[in-house]
Amino acid sequence: MAVREVIRMGHPRLRVPAAPYPTEHLGSAEFNELVSDMRETLHAYGGIGLAAPQIDVGLRIVVIEIENTSTRYGEIEHTPFEVYINPTITSIADETAGYWEGCLSVPGMMGYVERPQHILVDYLTPGGVDKSIEAHGFLATVFQHEFDHLEGILYPDLLDDPLEFGYCVKLVRTQIAFRLRYAVRPLQRDEIGGLLAGQSYAHGTEALTRSRMRI
Ligand code: NI
Repeated sequence: MAVREVIRMGHPRLRVPAAPYPTEHLGSAEFNELVSDMRETLHAYGGIGLAAPQIDVGLRIVVIEIENTSTRYGEIEHTPFEVYINPTITSIADETAGYWEGCLSVPGMMGYVERPQHILVDYLTPGGVDKSIEAHGFLATVFQHEFDHLEGILYPDLLDDPLEFGYCVKLVRTQIAFRLRYAVRPLQRDEIGGLLAGQSYAHGTEALTRSRMRI
């Protein structure tokens, strides 16, 4: 077992579709070691999801684990560790919603992405069993972000507004500096508080900062 290096945006592996995992290898020593390493790596990097291409392995395997977080984080639901092999996603409703997303392969940055919020996920378990589950809301976004890694897609590809993408810290602080410098009138204290809370953005920056949504 080992923590593997998570490769970063710019590495070509992150941009090519991964190959289906050969099901005859499920349960092999090699498979077990890969899954075990993915789990260790996920924990070591403090993420909630990891796709095999992120550790430079071009196979369609994803692990997701969302710890039980405080209710102040709202929509984040507890999701026990699970391995998703050769997964597919089907959107089952028109509703979309956006979240500030982060990614272990794009460290320190965040961007606002809208995605379908009701999906069906079909996948194979490590035991070779076909499973089908529904995911809604934030969890639906996590699945889509993660499975995009299997297609060579990174969340910055999906931004509606390039202004809603940047370094987590800079996104907030630069807004304050800009407003202070160019404001036509002095900023009121509550306005500065609003900027710190990310309210200067149409979608706020609070959610991601709090959720540590690194997937
Ligand atoms: Ni990611």
